[in-house]
Amino acid sequence: MAATKIGRVAAACMPLLAASCSAGAPSALSPGGPGAARVADLWWLLFGIAVVVCVVVTVLVLWAVARRRDANARTSSGRRFVVVWGLAVPAVILTFTYLTGLDAMRAFEDPRDPKALTVEVTGHQWWWEVRYPASHFTTANEIHVPVGRTVHVRLRTADVNHSFWVPQLTVKTDLVAGRVNDMWFTANRPGLFRGQCAEYCGTQHGRMALHIVAEPDAAFNAWLARQSQPATAAGEGRQVFEAASCASCHTVAGTSAAGRQGPDLTHVGGRRFLGAGTLHNTPADLAAWIANAQAYKPGNRMPPQPLAPEQLRAVTAYLDSLE
Ligand code: CUA
Repeated sequence: MAATKIGRVAAACMPLLAASCSAGAPSALSPGGPGAARVADLWWLLFGIAVVVCVVVTVLVLWAVARRRDANARTSSGRRFVVVWGLAVPAVILTFTYLTGLDAMRAFEDPRDPKALTVEVTGHQWWWEVRYPASHFTTANEIHVPVGRTVHVRLRTADVNHSFWVPQLTVKTDLVAGRVNDMWFTANRPGLFRGQCAEYCGTQHGRMALHIVAEPDAAFNAWLARQSQPATAAGEGRQVFEAASCASCHTVAGTSAAGRQGPDLTHVGGRRFLGAGTLHNTPADLAAWIANAQAYKPGNRMPPQPLAPEQLRAVTAYLDSLE
C-alpha cells in the first residue's frame, strides 16, 4: 500500500523533474555568460563539499554505532577528536566557502567598460519597461543585447519593489522604490534567456517574466535600427487603435497614441511573447489577449475591450504588422 503511494507520488513528480531538466529551462547551471558561470562553479563547489561532509559524517556515525563503547568512558583522545573534527575542520570549511562566495560576487562588479551598452529597465505591476537611452526608444519585456559586450542595466520601479533575475546571465538585483540600482552582465553565446521577477510584487508576480535575446553584432544592430524607427503601418486597424481606449494607455510612435500606462507597442509584432511571458505572440493569442486579457492574467491593468469582431480583427492585424 505504502509502496504504491510512493510510486504514485514519484510518477506525479516525473513531469516536473523532466521539465526542470529539459533544454531551454532557465537553469543557473547552464550559464550564458562569465558572471553566471562563476555562480555555477560556486554551486558545484558547495555541492561537492556538502557531499564529502555528508559521506564522512555518515561513515563516522555508523562507525560509532558499530563500536558500542561504554557510554561513561571519557578519554583525552575523544576530546581531541571533538575539538579537531567538531570545531576546527568546520571552521576551516565555513571560512573557505564564505570567502569563495564573496570572491564570486566580484564577477558582477562594475567592469568600467566605456563600450558598455546601457539599458534602463523600469518595473511595473506586472511587466518590464525597457529603454535604450542612446537610441531613444522604449520597448517592453524583451531585451536584445549583443553577444560579448558588457550590458549595464539601470533598474528602477514605477510602483512596488521587484527583482530582476535572469538565472543564466545574472544574479538577482532588486528594483527598489525611490532609487536606481545598477548591474552589469555579459552574454557570451547567442540565445533566448528567460528571466523572472524574483521579489513578490502582487497577484501576478508569477507572470512577470522577461526575455533576453543575445545575438551577434549584425543582428543586434539591425534590431536596434528597426526599433528606432516609428511605426509606419496604416489602415483600418490603426484608426480603431487610435479611436478606441487602446491609445490612452499605449504608445505607438508615429501615431497619435501616446499613453504611458501600458507597454509601448511601436514594434509589438516583433516580440516573442505577450503579457510579460503570459502568451506566445501569435495572431490568435494576440486577439484573445486584446478581447479579454483578464482571462489570462487576472488583475492586470488592461480592461476587456468591447470591440466588434471586424474591429478586433483589424486591430490585431495592425499590431501584428508592427515589427
Ligand atoms: Cu514584480 Cu514580482
